[in-house]
Amino acid sequence: MTPQQIELVKSTVPVLREHGVTLTSYFYHRMLNNHPELKNVFNLDHQTTGRQPRALAAAVLAYAEFIETPEKLAKAVEHITNKHVSLNIQPEQYAIVGENLLHSISEVLNVPFESDLIEAWKQAYLKLADILIGVEQQKYDQLAAQNGGWAGWRNFKIVSIEQQPEGKFFIISAADQQLIPVAKSGEYISVKVHVPAKGIDQPQQFIFSSVQDTAQQYGFLVKSQPEHSEYDVANILLTHYRVGDELAVSAPLKG
Ligand code: HEM
Repeated sequence: MTPQQIELVKSTVPVLREHGVTLTSYFYHRMLNNHPELKNVFNLDHQTTGRQPRALAAAVLAYAEFIETPEKLAKAVEHITNKHVSLNIQPEQYAIVGENLLHSISEVLNVPFESDLIEAWKQAYLKLADILIGVEQQKYDQLAAQNGGWAGWRNFKIVSIEQQPEGKFFIISAADQQLIPVAKSGEYISVKVHVPAKGIDQPQQFIFSSVQDTAQQYGFLVKSQPEHSEYDVANILLTHYRVGDELAVSAPLKG
């Protein structure tokens, strides 16, 4: 990036602060309209509660502020890449997100797409995307190299469902009956379910509350959410899934 481009991006921070949530809400709407296949990737329940638009707005702002010192973003990069890897995010999806984000900046801020400002943001986005893609590739490689490990999604079967005071405790094992990595308390997996009558899948993360050291099974608590949409994974698991059913699961990662 040129010094002028860095200045242009930094000068957008106050405007983004003001319009950050509008921008990212608009961005999601635009992207999911143009690429409905991503409805299987993003948690639509989070979209309705507004949690995800706030997270992405915050990440964009943080990056703009630290554009000259990306190493200060290390903690955020660690957090985001774990989440992305847990959701099997792939390099080619960065182009889709980038294109929609830049068009949204241009449309919401009423700046022409062919402008120096959008070009500066393009360079900034590519820089951040490069960092994230590189770290994510390392993490996929590390996960696949573990004993019993895998990268991306793997089919698991529900072994048992036990009623507990706070919810239902699900025990699952790999459908291929091979070993799985041991995991620490506090690590999480993503679990992907089919949404009834919607023709899409939805992922959500579940945290282990104790060590998972059998190398055969994982167990996690699913709590019912008092207020949820039809896309809420916990509610779908609680009402539609039975022992013997299969789920797509990603390998445990640090929370
Ligand atoms: C430079 C680009 C990107 C940035 C800065 C970014 C940033 C973030 C942040 C901050 C979160 C929230 C993490 C959390 O606290 O849970 C997140 C989650 C997520 N990101 Fe990204 N991301 C980028 C690119 C992508 C791409 C290319 C995809 C793939 C389509 C993607 C898919 C997701 C998904 C599915 C989630 C979980 C959100 C949910 O469903 O609740 N991201 N990202």
